[in-house]
Amino acid sequence: MSYEMILVETQGHVGVIRLNRPKALNALNDQLMDELGAALVQFDGDADIGCIVLTGSDKAFAAGADIAAMANYSFMDAYKGDYITRNWEQIRKIRKPVIAAVAGYALGGGCELAMMCDFIIAAENAKFGQPEIKLGTIPGAGGTQRLPRAVSKAKAMDMCLTARMMDAAEAERAGLVSRVVPLEKLFDEAMAAATVISAMSLPTVMMIKESVNRAYELTLSEGVLFERRMFHSTFALEDQKEGMKAFIEKRLPAFRGI
Ligand code: CAA
Repeated sequence: MSYEMILVETQGHVGVIRLNRPKALNALNDQLMDELGAALVQFDGDADIGCIVLTGSDKAFAAGADIAAMANYSFMDAYKGDYITRNWEQIRKIRKPVIAAVAGYALGGGCELAMMCDFIIAAENAKFGQPEIKLGTIPGAGGTQRLPRAVSKAKAMDMCLTARMMDAAEAERAGLVSRVVPLEKLFDEAMAAATVISAMSLPTVMMIKESVNRAYELTLSEGVLFERRMFHSTFALEDQKEGMKAFIEKRLPAFRGI
């Protein structure tokens, strides 16, 4: 499939998707989100891919949902048609890890898209925010739900109600991003992390992603039980035998994803 609003490539066992609407600071419209969903599904189904990196430009990961495209929607357009974010959920169905490499603005839907990824690596110039309130609306793709889980209620309320932006250092302190690196190192850092992950046992990687995500949906005891069942099931994998044997034999494991 050819894409107009994203650039897609493969580097080793890593799938790379770059949002590419530079004139609109990667504002997220239906076409871009459809293309993103399709590219993610394609990488998820590709046996050669172990991890996906989602990134934007040096100036913007994404400045939010496309304001011009939705400015004149009526309530019925938005509600009945489930417009604007109806095609955003695809990313949540992806079972391989997706790393967001964020430089510049990650605002509104851009911040929400980054939070839908499994973890965020930020450049020093990254700025996160949920400024929808300035437009007379509210975050519509999980901002009011994922942000408090990521950074606490106090900071989420502060950001959603005042529309202030959080810089990369604050985002790291608050736990929104896992690492902050100089802009020129952002892509290499994300690729290095993705390469490490893609050398692991793929079914184990997928089980970890599934288990960590359960932490946001379940009680502690239910989550721990889910984790234990997943842990037990790894003993059915040849990769578990290989991983532990390699440790005992003091060599690197050669995982085969089975
Ligand atoms: N939608 C559509 N176009 C956008 C956009 C957006 N979210 N963000 C930026 N653009 C466009 C601008 O209109 C401008 O286009 P033109 O050159 O044709 O005028 C171009 O991108 C460059 O933007 P600026 O000139 O504004 O650049 P700047 O450097 O002065 O400011 C900015 C950058 C602070 C990010 C500013 O563009 C801005 O505030 N953007 C909007 C951010 C926002 O409100 N996001 C939330 C959107 S609503 C949402 O996302 C809902 C949801 O939860 C799903």
